Amino acid sequence: IKRVLSGVQPTGSLHLGNYLGAIRQWVEFQDNAETQDEEGNLIRTENFFCVVDLHAITMPHDPTELTESTLSSAALYLAAGIDPSKSRVFVQSHVTAHAELTWLLNCITPMNWLERMIQFKEKARKQGESVGVGLFDYPVLMAADILLYQADQIPVGEDQRQHLELARDISRRFHDLFCKGNKYKKLCKAAGVPSRPVFVEPNAMIVKSGARIMSLSDGNSKMSKSDPNDASRINILDPPDVIREKIKKCKTDAQVGLEWDNPDRPEATNLLTIFQAVQPGRTREDILNEVGDMTWGQFKPVLADAIVNHLEPIQERYKAIREDDEYLWQVLKDGADAADEIASRTLKHAKIAMGFAVPP
Ligand code: TYM
Repeated sequence: IKRVLSGVQPTGSLHLGNYLGAIRQWVEFQDNAETQDEEGNLIRTENFFCVVDLHAITMPHDPTELTESTLSSAALYLAAGIDPSKSRVFVQSHVTAHAELTWLLNCITPMNWLERMIQFKEKARKQGESVGVGLFDYPVLMAADILLYQADQIPVGEDQRQHLELARDISRRFHDLFCKGNKYKKLCKAAGVPSRPVFVEPNAMIVKSGARIMSLSDGNSKMSKSDPNDASRINILDPPDVIREKIKKCKTDAQVGLEWDNPDRPEATNLLTIFQAVQPGRTREDILNEVGDMTWGQFKPVLADAIVNHLEPIQERYKAIREDDEYLWQVLKDGADAADEIASRTLKHAKIAMGFAVPP
């Protein structure tokens, strides 16, 4: 059995970057849940997709919006194709082991590992004096999310690579400190549990195209929920006329014609990347043959149509799901129950390895 785990923060509305960089890939993992290895053995993959609400409070947040953002994010996972009969969808704060393992891992994670985190530095700069301990600790909570499920495949966008490396380092450090030699075996024996590895080292699975969708107002910075300018991103739930307007106004350059990978034309690459990503199966050449000679004025409506066409069915499914939150709550409860079973088992092993008095 292999496990896949990933999550998105329920801060504001999810955007095209979250969808193309992460969620869409989750659906692929889910649909390939049964594969064969080279020897023909069946490999089953269990998928866990989490709404990481504990992460969402690491930046100032509005308590009157968190519940709605959480439900909306979960509904979007389903609308984008996550099927609760194949994957577990749950809310991070519903499984208490996440917060608890974070504390254990905090106590073995050197401060200077966290001081190196690029996202912390970027976000902390924006907050100045009031930056919270939680923001600093964000990557340890993320490591706990992953390690609790012994997940080895973590589909994320490019910006999460460093956090994934850290999760691997923390896992290794834990094993070096507590699982080498006979001590761990003895502790497991005393607790009456098998001495299996506590954690599994996770791997980042990053899509080839779409792993870094850039802002509509600056082709050199990432499309992001925290950009105060809403026109810098396409939210998955933006109505068609809003999408058309945002594309109409988005930043371009003074050149005629479109091309990939010209470092002086980041907007061209970004908009072509989006155009390709919303039309699965089309190659770069094929895209260029269609639109390469167009002016920006000709390309923009074609791009906007392609985005609208791709998002419309997702938006319709979203609306249908949100008509009845009872169903959504049931999905989240089933997801949390299944997640809790695995997470508490791992937490118990971590506590035993660290020498806690775990009740028999
Ligand atoms: P968040 O909410 O910031 O991002 C969620 C996912 O979206 C990807 N992403 C992008 N991909 C392409 N282009 C963009 N412009 C873009 N912006 C965001 C992110 O890489 C991410 O995959 N820390 C995680 C949430 C998390 C998590 C986890 C992920 C918490 N625990 C455990 C995996 C496993 C994050 O960045 O959320």
